[in-house]
Amino acid sequence: MNENRCESLSSDRETIGYPSIDLAAFKAAMRNLSAGVTIVSTGQGAQRRGLTVSAACSLSGEPPSVLVCLNTASEAVETATLTGSFAVNFLGFDQLDLALRFAGHGGARHEAKFDMGSWTRLSTGAPVLANALCSVDCELAEAIPFGSHMILIGRIVDTVRRVEGEPLMYFRGQFAQILPKDFLDGYVESGFEA
Ligand SMILES: Cc1cc2nc3c(=O)[nH]c(=O)nc-3n(C[C@H](O)[C@H](O)[C@H](O)COP(=O)(O)O)c2cc1C
Repeated sequence: MNENRCESLSSDRETIGYPSIDLAAFKAAMRNLSAGVTIVSTGQGAQRRGLTVSAACSLSGEPPSVLVCLNTASEAVETATLTGSFAVNFLGFDQLDLALRFAGHGGARHEAKFDMGSWTRLSTGAPVLANALCSVDCELAEAIPFGSHMILIGRIVDTVRRVEGEPLMYFRGQFAQILPKDFLDGYVESGFEA
């Protein structure tokens, strides 16, 4: 399937073969891309695996789908492939501690990461964070290797949302918060119009 995609690309135009930028230049560029912070979670029981992920995005409404990019060194890749399901939990700013834990801070590994937070399940059985801003429960539709990472495409089969809360963001190596809505309300009241 991958080969097919490459074939159709090269039949449209010749690959010119520009040299890639190096890893340092890549990192210097990408740290400017602000992103919401998620936890990708997969597996069941003692085989649960999860990691903090900013490379997650909406893919398509038809079918409802998301994609996440996971380092192939992560055990979550194998677990998601074996079980055929994973969840993406969009974190609120009040869940910074979970983002750090699932990124490996504090040394918790494997199933022990799930000692923090309230975890439940929806349709697929993948672990779902009970009070994320939103969680999407996915059946694995495709796993596409590219370089050091695996692109997992998930077809969304279930979702749960929390009404309140501000998102946890990541930008230039730092966690960040967007301005709460009532912060701007103050400017509007004093004559500021965006
Ligand atoms: C804000 C933030 C965003 C991250 N985004 C990703 C990502 O998109 N993909 C990825 O593979 N790792 C990402 N990581 C790194 C993993 O969370 C980290 O390597 C984690 O320890 C992997 O867990 P594991 O070794 O148990 O698989 C991110 C870390 C942080 C702090």
